[in-house]
Amino acid sequence: MSQALDEIKIGGLGASRKRVEDSRFIRGKGNYTDDITLPGMLHMEILRSPLAHARIKSIDTSKAWDIPGVHLVLTGEMMATRNLAWMPTLSYDTQAVLATDKVRFQGQEVACVIADDPYIAKDACEAIDVDYEPLPVIVNPRQAVADGAPVIRDDKESQAGNVIYDWEVGDKAGTDRAFEQADLVSKLQLHYPRSHPSPIECCGSIADFNRATSKLTVYMTTQAPHIIRAAVALVAELPEHMIRIISPDIGGGFGNKVPVYPGYVCSILASILLERPVKWIEDKSGNLISTGFARDVYLDGEMALRRDGKILGVRIHTDADHGAFFSDAQPSKFKIGLMHSAFAAYDIPAAHLTARGTYTNKAPGGVAYRCSFRVTEAMFFQERMVQAAADDLGMDQAEFRRMNFVRDEDFPHRTPFGFLTDSGQYAKCLDVGLKAIDYEEFRREQAEARKRGRLLGLGISTMTEPLGAGNSREYDILGIKMFDSAELKVHMTGKAIVRTGAKTQGQGHETTWAQIVSHELGIPADDIVVEEGDTDTAPFGMGTYASRSTPVAGAAVAMVSRKIRAKARKLAAHLLEVSEEDVEWELGRFYVRSAPDRGVTIQECAMAAYSNMPDGMEPGLENTAYYDPPNLTWPFAVYIVTVEVDPETGVWDVLKMVAVDDCGVRINPMIVEGQIMGGLTEAYAMANMQFITFDADGNCVGSNYMDYLLPSAWETPGFELHSEVVTPCPHHPIGAKGIGECAAVGGPAAFVNAVIDALDGTGVRNIDMPLLPDRVWEAITYRRDVSGAPPVRADD
Ligand code: CDP
Repeated sequence: MSQALDEIKIGGLGASRKRVEDSRFIRGKGNYTDDITLPGMLHMEILRSPLAHARIKSIDTSKAWDIPGVHLVLTGEMMATRNLAWMPTLSYDTQAVLATDKVRFQGQEVACVIADDPYIAKDACEAIDVDYEPLPVIVNPRQAVADGAPVIRDDKESQAGNVIYDWEVGDKAGTDRAFEQADLVSKLQLHYPRSHPSPIECCGSIADFNRATSKLTVYMTTQAPHIIRAAVALVAELPEHMIRIISPDIGGGFGNKVPVYPGYVCSILASILLERPVKWIEDKSGNLISTGFARDVYLDGEMALRRDGKILGVRIHTDADHGAFFSDAQPSKFKIGLMHSAFAAYDIPAAHLTARGTYTNKAPGGVAYRCSFRVTEAMFFQERMVQAAADDLGMDQAEFRRMNFVRDEDFPHRTPFGFLTDSGQYAKCLDVGLKAIDYEEFRREQAEARKRGRLLGLGISTMTEPLGAGNSREYDILGIKMFDSAELKVHMTGKAIVRTGAKTQGQGHETTWAQIVSHELGIPADDIVVEEGDTDTAPFGMGTYASRSTPVAGAAVAMVSRKIRAKARKLAAHLLEVSEEDVEWELGRFYVRSAPDRGVTIQECAMAAYSNMPDGMEPGLENTAYYDPPNLTWPFAVYIVTVEVDPETGVWDVLKMVAVDDCGVRINPMIVEGQIMGGLTEAYAMANMQFITFDADGNCVGSNYMDYLLPSAWETPGFELHSEVVTPCPHHPIGAKGIGECAAVGGPAAFVNAVIDALDGTGVRNIDMPLLPDRVWEAITYRRDVSGAPPVRADD
């Protein structure tokens, strides 16, 4: 039997093994933070600001203290006595834990009550009397930089205005030259609206400080437990070895559970003060109104074009709205994340990006929602700009892309912003997609339909995403280098446990890491248990976000398995009484090269590691690998969608969507398909329905699921997935590239491009997401672009 078939049998690489974690989830036996109850546990609730910008004149907590069952009322003033009123963020800023001087966004944490139960705590929050003096409010970057704008962060001596950073990357002079040589310059302006990861499970923590042992254990919803342990050690000045962070089952993260939230810090301090466990579970509106928002960036760019369709250069300017605190995590070298991954799939000689970040009176934003640090915005702009340029040139959408793609033979390729992409078959993916959508036939149908007044459209989007930060030379968060780790222990009976520094939140690591070990060692996947999320047991790692798990932690799993195999080979040579050089490996078994029938299984080697090792060999079969990737992995995808737009109502329906994803070697094809379907669903939601914005007074519109819509199976269209293009990653030990985010990153532009294509001939270049029926109707009726940018005051 071939190795591939053997692997499928034992659940190795390429097996669509059913997710092992699901057996507890579908039985209701998951163990989420809110499922945990500790003896003597108290409950914490947070009082949030109703105003977006106001000075705090006084906080009267006396009535709250008087309520029976209340144990503690925390305010910023009390936090300040412990130097905890402010905390550092993951982007070198500071963030108020509980407000002292001012509130800076609606929903900001002002006080906490710890009580016998959450209802008493909530009532006591309502009994707190805060006297606010309202201040002028800023809700977008244009207002933030206007003359005379109030300074939001007047707590920072160095902060004269509201600009957080002005940053640039690329070749300005070369790009200027490209524009001088251009036959045509195509321009596009758009706003990628605020969106919210809105995981089904909200954020929460249970802090349990034990005075007798001096140990602090915190169960919490974090995607990066080791980073939290370091942050708690530094912020609360507790010894790191006395802190244990346990991230139990997580009901979705999508980047929302990376930042450190005030609720975590307050529950920890409360537990230390009260010497009892303190649980904080955020409610839905708390989650939607105050935790990590994403996007909210204005993109303005232009493309220098030659008449024959060659792209000569690109300029991009971004204005990002970070809200009141710059608290999203991203590699510290890159202020606007990896926005400069834009146009990585296209062979463009010169590009230049300028980026400005501003404070506004909104909740902290810019988190990497299912995205490798702003790549979603980058790919969205890229594919919207490419469509606009092809239209301006009067060229076919597909052909324009094909002629500008990086060709297969051009790898490794240096992108115009300096990344090194190493592999891909871009034109082949496009061909598969065009065939699947029946491109020529659809164009004919579209022309026919138009004659009868029907508006059909086709949108193409491609994406290549830099997944798997680090390498550690270039990528760090707060100076901590980005690498990851895996520890593998093979027990004497050949069963095994693998632990990594990543943390699954629904992606299926418990299933897929076992498959990598199976592939490397031939141990059946069912004999391997995977554990993540406990800092006392898991090796140090940077956690799971930015689809970095497979590229980094998954690679570490392969590498540690290889260390184990190297030791097992020595054991096999000892058992077979031959020299190590005479031993060959096949899946799950060593054998003598000259006598293939004489062999020992990996399980027999495991037993020997504890019972019959050669003289001088250290007993046991365990090891750890820290993996620092040489480069990012670069998956590629083509998404093509066809739509029909109703000219009377602006309602649009998806006719067909095809997705061609090349993520290199697929560990578990079924899980990969699940990731793509989930991502496309989120992409559809962003393009079609998700609306979260702020009125001129900074009130959050969309902080509930009546306004902020999550698509169900009913609204979501079907997707046709294609997996025939596989370009293994040249540096990943098993050739895998990340996949978790690709569809959410690349999908939105396909939907928008399709609707704009349906409006061909009206002169409409852009409708900002979400493409709500009224916006589409307005564009059709008045033949004009429709901006979704938040309101700006008349006196701006
Ligand atoms: O970091 P995150 O887990 O969110 O993303 P990922 O590394 O792209 O992986 C998402 C899931 O897809 C994991 O269970 C992976 O093991 C699986 N996967 C796979 O089976 N094959 C790949 N080439 C990439 C991911």
